Amino acid sequence: MSDYVLELSGIRKIYRGGIEALKGIDLRVPRGCVYGLLGPNGAGKSTMVKILTTLIRRSGGNGTMLGKPIGDRKTLQQVGLLPEHTQFPPYLTGRQVIEFAAGLQNVPSALTKERADMLLKKVSMTESQHRKIKTYSKGMKQRIGVAQALVSNPKIIFLDEPTDGVDPAGRREFRSLVRELRDEGRTIFINTHILSELEPIVDRVAIMTNGQILGEGKLDELRTEKTGYVIGFEGQLSAESRSNFLDGGLEVEGGSVRLPSTNALDAQPVIDRIRKEGLVVTDLSLKSQSLEDLFIGLVGGTSSPPPL
Ligand SMILES: Nc1ncnc2c1ncn2[C@@H]1O[C@H](COP(=O)(O)OP(=O)(O)OP(=O)(O)O)[C@@H](O)[C@H]1O
Ligand SMILES: [Mg+2]
Repeated sequence: MSDYVLELSGIRKIYRGGIEALKGIDLRVPRGCVYGLLGPNGAGKSTMVKILTTLIRRSGGNGTMLGKPIGDRKTLQQVGLLPEHTQFPPYLTGRQVIEFAAGLQNVPSALTKERADMLLKKVSMTESQHRKIKTYSKGMKQRIGVAQALVSNPKIIFLDEPTDGVDPAGRREFRSLVRELRDEGRTIFINTHILSELEPIVDRVAIMTNGQILGEGKLDELRTEKTGYVIGFEGQLSAESRSNFLDGGLEVEGGSVRLPSTNALDAQPVIDRIRKEGLVVTDLSLKSQSLEDLFIGLVGGTSSPPPL
């Protein structure tokens, strides 16, 4: 059995009208990980997931999912999908949406009730299961969306922008659900452009723009760059110190100063100056490049991708 649940080579998509949405994607997704596909609007993320779940056809390239060629119908029964902008019929209850999905995925009817109970509990929707979708908040609809994606007990789950419009508490719950799914041995493939969403849970990421992958790997491998020391303090910095720091190439933001240096010695005169003003230094830490910095560095503000 391969260690990879997905192995793609040269996947291309040209939509009618000539838009080249995917320009030859090579990707390998290890079994049992949370995999993030990150990219700005129009990068090709949804196109990718639609090809893998056979909602649309690819124009070129090859690949396997769970060891079988993409599109293999039997394999699709082991795949869960929460599509982007999903709209469920407003007159169905949450439970009915899950049972309907069970029917579509050929879940044996003897198993459906038990499976629906289990999933409703998993996404904390047991209490609201008999209410109609039209009475749900966005967060509740998304939870039902995730539950219906799990109805076939899938080995791989594609979630396309799963926390779109969900509040911070709902996003935190979502992250713990994703961890739980991974601990059950499933692979979770998440499309998003909200980087902070992914950072705490993702094992590997691919950064995509313009139909191409610009970088791929474990977060730690991608973020090898240590960007410098950050000094946190309490109180208000004087205008004089502030401009002195800015002139010296430091970044000053609210209660912190960021140095473009990874040498702790360089931080000492800055700490001295902050303390001389009677302010309390509360934190000194060496920061790694954030996922956001990495993303902006790779994708930039331009349409032509920078070299890796
Ligand atoms: N049905 C379609 N017909 C023609 N072009 C399309 C179609 N669907 C998507 N595209 C184009 O393909 C490109 C990739 O779109 P896609 O929806 O895959 O991007 P995305 O990364 O999911 O973006 P978003 O973050 O906005 O969801 C875009 O240029 C888009 O305009
Ligand atoms: Mg999309």
